[in-house]
Amino acid sequence: MTHLNSKVAVVTGAARGIGAATAARLALDGATVAVIDLDETQTKETADAIVSAGGSAMAVACDVSDEAAVAEAAERIRAEAGSIDVLVNNAGVLRDNLLFKMSLSDWDTVMSVHLRGSFLWAREAQKTMVQNRWGKIVNLSSTSALGNRGQTNYSAAKAGLQGFTKAMALELGPFNVNVNAVAPGFIVTEMTRATAARTGVDFEEMQERGAANIPLRRVGRPEDIANVVSVLCSEDTSYVTGQVIYVAGGPKA
Ligand SMILES: NC(=O)c1ccc[n+]([C@@H]2O[C@H](COP(=O)([O-])OP(=O)(O)OC[C@H]3O[C@@H](n4cnc5c(N)ncnc54)[C@H](O)[C@@H]3O)[C@@H](O)[C@H]2O)c1
Repeated sequence: MTHLNSKVAVVTGAARGIGAATAARLALDGATVAVIDLDETQTKETADAIVSAGGSAMAVACDVSDEAAVAEAAERIRAEAGSIDVLVNNAGVLRDNLLFKMSLSDWDTVMSVHLRGSFLWAREAQKTMVQNRWGKIVNLSSTSALGNRGQTNYSAAKAGLQGFTKAMALELGPFNVNVNAVAPGFIVTEMTRATAARTGVDFEEMQERGAANIPLRRVGRPEDIANVVSVLCSEDTSYVTGQVIYVAGGPKA
């Protein structure tokens, strides 16, 4: 597919996992992809892999929760690539703990990366989207938005992103900008691997147990999410906005 030919896509948290798969997929769809992540070297590795596969990508190291860094990164992308047409707010972190053990810093870090980061990038991205009367924004929510033990911070942030998505869809709809959220279930990435390690569970065993409780009887892959993001950035879904699509192998919502 080449539905994003001549478009510029920003994917945050794209050095690995769901973000890297999404960046690769949008490049395959024809977009020039700005790969955003904290670490310069890892960000460059993802961008180089896209270029080696015949795509177009640029690596931009940026902490999404830093207002000045986001403004500078967005300016560089607009200067070098011309505009920002697609934004995937994917950067994320976990700081799981039961409420009575959760520190203020655990709470603030999760809010900063997911909510503040998505807000800062959306505020930058909408500039050229509104100007061009064309744009696609996809925010990464989670089935944890429905509540998950040990994740009061993360659940609040992921539910917050759903409200953020719907309010933005109302504001940006008149400018032909679609805003949707994808809410993954269990996806095999470094994030879920780290959760297994932190809780002392073997990762393979965690996947097997997870799959047994999922109607489609398998855990998800980063590509499962990337494919849905791609569809939400295509003209086939141009009448879909303000929606949350659960991609969890079952009707989790
Ligand atoms: N893996 C899952 O099962 C799952 C389920 C539901 C939702 N999600 C969400 O999907 C998104 C991607 O998750 P993943 O599993 O690929 O995680 P991951 O930990 O593998 O990747 C997240 C990326 O975000 C980057 N990041 C973190 N803080 C950042 C910051 N301040 N600025 C820029 N980049 C930053 C990390 O460096 C990392 O490369 C996250 O928002 C996550 O909450 C994941």
